[in-house]
Parts: sequence; structure tokens; C-alpha cells
Amino acid sequence: MRPSIKEILLMNPDTDTRTVYGWVRTKRDSKNVCFFELSDGSCLKNLQVIVDKEKYNPDDILAKLTTGAGVEVDGLLVESPGANQSVELQASEIRILGEAPAESYPLQKKRHSFEFLRDIAHLRPRTNALGAVTRVRSTASFAVHRFFQDRGFYYIHTPIISASDCEGAGEMFQVTTMDLNNIPKTGGSVDYTHDFFGKSAALTVSGQLEAEIYALSHSNVYTFGPTFRAENSNTARHLAEFWMIEPEMAFCSLDGNMDTAEDFIKYVIGYILEHCAEDMELFNKFIEKGIVDSLASVVNSEFHRVTYTDAMKELEKNKAKFEFEPSWGVDLQSEHEKYLTEQVFKGPVIVTDYPKDIKAFYMKMNDDGKTVRAMDVLVPRLGEIIGGSQREDSLEKLTARINDMGLEEKDYWWYLDLRRYGSVPHSGFGLGFERLIQYMTGMQNIRDVIPFPRTVHNAEF
Ligand code: 4AD
Ligand code: MG
Repeated sequence: MRPSIKEILLMNPDTDTRTVYGWVRTKRDSKNVCFFELSDGSCLKNLQVIVDKEKYNPDDILAKLTTGAGVEVDGLLVESPGANQSVELQASEIRILGEAPAESYPLQKKRHSFEFLRDIAHLRPRTNALGAVTRVRSTASFAVHRFFQDRGFYYIHTPIISASDCEGAGEMFQVTTMDLNNIPKTGGSVDYTHDFFGKSAALTVSGQLEAEIYALSHSNVYTFGPTFRAENSNTARHLAEFWMIEPEMAFCSLDGNMDTAEDFIKYVIGYILEHCAEDMELFNKFIEKGIVDSLASVVNSEFHRVTYTDAMKELEKNKAKFEFEPSWGVDLQSEHEKYLTEQVFKGPVIVTDYPKDIKAFYMKMNDDGKTVRAMDVLVPRLGEIIGGSQREDSLEKLTARINDMGLEEKDYWWYLDLRRYGSVPHSGFGLGFERLIQYMTGMQNIRDVIPFPRTVHNAEF
């Protein structure tokens, strides 16, 4: 394979003419020389190309070297006198592969707002910031697999179309082949026996229930896939389609679960700091000042751990500060999460043992009968990035819980079977991948850390 610009920038000057490919980022022209910068997306840095107009001066081609144009350049890699790079390309011939007329190309040199770029999601990966996000996201995906594979976890492909609502929150997108203008009904309600699957089906909100099946055969497993939630929340941290990583571990209690979550987050951050240093420097300078040092200190310190009840006491002491009044039994609002992580603990914190009424049916009940073995990992700037728990492993208690919550026992027959046959303590969690990318890059809006964000009224690209 031909070397990328990232590789070329690390090479020594050579004596043979080579051909380089990329898109023009900027151009400076003077009487005798023309400089332009080429990018091929392989790294943040561009390759500088110099055209000595006394030796080579095709006016028509130089005029077409506008920002965004795709080109092929023959030239010699020479030592660069400039301070920014050690090598540059002395062009001997340039071929324009695809023009990008300056009058109409939307990405000109100046910095564009992220809002503006969202409307041109087909061009925004060509910008420095979105280009860096793209590389960090890819590298982080690899780190996720690496973390679990190195520790003997098996990667399970859980289904995207599912008939069970894992979180019981009713925020599912239905999947149907029925004609919406002519829906078959019996006795006033939809008759799903005529639908593709013969029953109501939806896009998954979580692969957890299916991951539990495999944890109870392979001990340590994980999923990493797209997840869908029809939440009508227009915030900077919610998507209708996001990627979630969900490990599930047999013979594991809530403490083991917290340890894995903490090690996992630190590992991915450490991996990015090491392997994406150049891109991280961009975020450090332009997006979130000081983020590199602050992430490095996260890797080197322990996460705080606090029960929901104690966290609530801390919040109640400062009631006046909040729009939503904190009180035992209500869910933590994002202002509460922010306060805990930024003011009280000044770093990531794991909150455990939430009231049962604000958590899903599958969490293990504590002896107090009021709280469950839940854990949420909260981080500064964002709030919750992980939600997890030890799972209820008693058939009796789980059945009671399903009934209490008004769910249908028959919909969960196979999930209950796991408690009937060889049930063992097990735990797991879900990490929102986009929230982790936001945390690591400092990008404020979740729509800017996924290539094609799906949100309310938005699925153009
Ligand atoms: O807390 P949640 O809902 O937990 C679960 O789905 C469990 N089944 C996970 C498990 O135990 N296996 O979601 C987990 C994480 C959240 O902490 C958040 O980071 C992310 O998924 N998340 C979202 N990210 C972007 N947009 C949304 N609408 C999200 N909803 C949840
Ligand atoms: Mg949650």
C-alpha cells in the first residue's frame, strides 16, 4: 500500500520521485514559489508542497489548487527549512483529480461553527476538529476491544431488532412491515400476528439481557453496538442512535463491576493519550483548555465511590443551588451530577445503591428492600457516562419485581429461565461510547462526536 501522509511525514528525505495524494487545505502564492498544504486524513498535520515556479509553472493547474481540491503530486521529499515539519515535497508535476471551486465550496479557511458544520455532515470530516474526532473515535473503538480481549472477554453480537424492552422505559422505535395506512386490528388493538415477526418488535435499547445469556455460559462477555432510544430530549448528551459497550460478568458482584468500569475508562483514556497525542493537543488548545493534564490525572487517581443516600445528603446541604430540589427518592438531575463531580468530588465518582423505584427491574435488591445494587459512573462536564448493576439472580425476587412494575412475566420467560437453571451472581454495565468520546475530547455537543447524529427531527445524512 502507498504510504499515508502520516507515514511520509516521518520519513527521511529521499532521492527518488514519489507520488503523493490528498486534498488541498491552504495555499500561499508568491511570484516565484507556491506553497500548499495537503491532507489525506491520516493525521492532523499536513504535508507541505512547494512549487518552484521557475522550474514548473502550469498556471492553469496552480489556479485550480483551491481548498478542497483533490490532487496527485509527483515530487521529491526534501528536508524542510520550516520549523513545523522535517520534510516537505518539492513538486515536479501536479494533476488535479477533482476541483473544488472556491466560489461554492462551503469549507473555506476560517473556523466554522460546529452548528454550521452539522448541516454539512458530508463535508465536516475534512475540518481539523472533526477530523481529529474521527481518528480518536476509531482508536478508542480499538482500545475498547483490546481492553476486553486482553482480559479474556468474548465479543457477543446481540440483536439490533428485539422484542424486549430492557430498560422498561418504553422509549423504543418500532420495527414493522405493516402498511401504516391500513393496520390490521382485532378488538380495537393492533394485531401483530400479521406483522413480519408475528409480534411487536423494536430496535434495541440495550444488549444487556442477551449479554446475560452469554455471561451465564462464557462467564465474561461484552457487546459493542448501536443502541436506539426514542427519547424526546434535545440535549447536548442525548442521541436517538448511539453506540454502547456492555460487559457482563458472571461470578461478579457490584464491587468487581465498579473495579472493571474504573479500569476500563482509565485504560481507554490512557490509550488515547498515548496514541492520539497530536489530535489531543488540538482539543487541549482549542476545545477544552487543560484537558490533557486533567485526563492524565484521572488515569492516575482513584474514582470516588459514594452511595446515593450519602450523595443526596451532600446535595441537600446545598438545596438553594439547584433548580430541581434534591430529595431522597428522586433521580439525580444533570445539575446534581455536575455539582457532585465538579464541586464535591472534583473528579469521576461512582454513585451506588439507588432507590429501587428509579432503576430498572433487573437490578439486585439490597437487604433494606428499598435500594438496589446499582452503580452510575459520573464525570465532570457530562454527568453519567456509565450505568450498571449487579443483576437480580433470585427467581423469586425477580418475578416479584417484574409483576410489581407492571411488566408481563411471559415476555421475560427466557430471562427468568436464566434464574431457574444455574443462576449465579453476575454484574455488568453500559458505557455510552459517544459520552466517553465527549469526555476525552472536550467536545460539548454529542452530535459532533458521531459521524451522522440521529436526533429528534434529524436524520438527513
Ligand atoms: O443507564 P443506561 O440506560 O443503562 C443500560 O442501558 C443498561 N442496560 C446497561 C447495562 O447495565 N448493561 O445506559 C447506559 C449508558 C448511559 O450511562 C449513557 O452513557 C449512555 O448509555 N446513554 C446514552 N448516550 C447517548 N444518548 C442517549 N440517549 C443515551 N442513553 C443512554
Ligand atoms: Mg442510566
